Amino acid sequence: MGEQRKCSGKCAFGESPQVVEMEPKPLLTSEPIWQKIQDYYNENGKNIVIKDLFDQDPGRFDKYSLKIATPNDGDILIDYSKNRLNDEVLNLLFDLARTRKVEQARAAMFSGGKINITENRAVLHVALRNRRNKPIFVDGKNVTGDVNEVLAHMKEFTESVLSGQWTGYSGKKITDVVNIGIGGSDLGPVMVTEALKPYNQGLKLHFVSNIDGTHLAEVLKVVDPETVLFIIASKTFTTLETCTNAGSAKTWFLEKAGDPAAVAKHFVALSTNEVKVTEFGIDKANMFGFWDWVGGRYSLWSAIGLSICLSIGFDNFIQLLEGANFMDEHFQNAPLEKNGPILLGLLGIWYHNFYGAQTHAILPYDQYLHRFPAYFQQGDMESNGKYVTRGGEVANFTTGPIVWGEPGTNGQHAFYQLFHQGTHLIPADFIAPAQTQNPIANGLHHIYLLANFLAQTEALMNGKSADQARKELEGQGLEGAALEKLLPHKVFQGNRPTNSIVVKKFTPFTLGAVIALYEHKIFTQGIIWDINSFDQWGVELGKQLAKVIEPELEGDSPVSSHDSSTNGLINFIKASR
Ligand code: F6P
Repeated sequence: MGEQRKCSGKCAFGESPQVVEMEPKPLLTSEPIWQKIQDYYNENGKNIVIKDLFDQDPGRFDKYSLKIATPNDGDILIDYSKNRLNDEVLNLLFDLARTRKVEQARAAMFSGGKINITENRAVLHVALRNRRNKPIFVDGKNVTGDVNEVLAHMKEFTESVLSGQWTGYSGKKITDVVNIGIGGSDLGPVMVTEALKPYNQGLKLHFVSNIDGTHLAEVLKVVDPETVLFIIASKTFTTLETCTNAGSAKTWFLEKAGDPAAVAKHFVALSTNEVKVTEFGIDKANMFGFWDWVGGRYSLWSAIGLSICLSIGFDNFIQLLEGANFMDEHFQNAPLEKNGPILLGLLGIWYHNFYGAQTHAILPYDQYLHRFPAYFQQGDMESNGKYVTRGGEVANFTTGPIVWGEPGTNGQHAFYQLFHQGTHLIPADFIAPAQTQNPIANGLHHIYLLANFLAQTEALMNGKSADQARKELEGQGLEGAALEKLLPHKVFQGNRPTNSIVVKKFTPFTLGAVIALYEHKIFTQGIIWDINSFDQWGVELGKQLAKVIEPELEGDSPVSSHDSSTNGLINFIKASR
């Protein structure tokens, strides 16, 4: 293990093997700036009316929006003007970011500091998309070469499968790819391959994650053993779901193919665990490695992205990495006031911790992005769903929001009612491409889609006053008691905050950039709350208990070792099968 030099926060990304340290912080609520924000909220913040701010300042959009110019794929616009926000709030939030040393923490991450303190690991998904090959050190070793080596392996393999040079055991070309993985080894690849479907190069992609045999069974019904490639994606290669699904896929395959030598043509592994991969029967040559400094939920940029490569081709995968790298550089270099991820992170804190907003909605107005909210459910909730601070104290404030969402316009016809007239404040991000990939009906669909996105953010902000509603009802011929009875139901309070994130088009580059935007937003919030955003111990307890219950489900004898509810459920299931 190489020796790590340490510096106080001024090390540039990759200049030398210097590691920036993260300093211990006091509990957030004991910081004077926290109290200052709370006071401001109590006196002014809670009364901010977004619509009034627009009336007072015609330049509000220019002031509170950010255009991040990409080299070839247009601007990424982040409009955060439709928020309960003014200069005073922003300045307080920037003070908060400075007090909580967000910039220093950012330098610690990029310098390879072991900021994942409970697992003593660096957090370096940014090294996977380090396209300028700046040296990045882990334990004194520059990891750039290793990253590029795996990328070269992925390129060679992808090109060989896509060209038809790689064939199955009977000499036929591969037509279908089945990625078997779960959590970060599934959600990222699914989300990106769906989001970039227009870039698909011809292979049919399938994803199996659930331990429920139905998931695998349905995929096995539609693939042919002679032309299918299974990718077993698991960082640890010990995950129950993935190992079970992989084992069953192999059994199915061998029943059809017969010869165990055929496995080498149809199974590859993406993992950090060479021993387990080899034990499973996958040749080392067909293993694509990565490292413990790649967190599962940040792993789509690593070998875990092989299914993405096979879907969109290696060059497009590189563009995805380029886009993420572009956002990494923006995150590192833009001042706080113009820094997209930091702004979004601070706005989230403003609503979550001061207005008590418990959830955050992600609403892509792009059908291809239909798994984007699910992806960031893991990205955000597994990262920031923590009640213990890095210092081991119990947080006396709330941390990670509940993240949810569906693509527009489907969401509009399902849950937007609660946005508009419900009792919860739900800050929401609207995400849309100016250009569609499918301009059918002369682009009319896209016009309707965009009109809906714009109308929703406007309606959420403006609402509808009692006067407006009254006029409308009068216009419909209503009056007297009938009008008064209906009137309260027709009023919208408005003042619902939204961010709008608009790209020219969802290309591999812009998608990569927007994913990284969210990753760094989540990072920023974790730093302010001072929690470890990089572990996931909370997932463990259920897994441990499942191992106890598993043998108890066998046989017929009644179980009495648990509480009466768990016993009752187990015994009902046993009696009912
Ligand atoms: O759900 C917990 C988790 O550890 C995730 O963080 C991870 O993405 C997933 O399980 C899958 O783990 P593995 O890639 O090791 O199979």
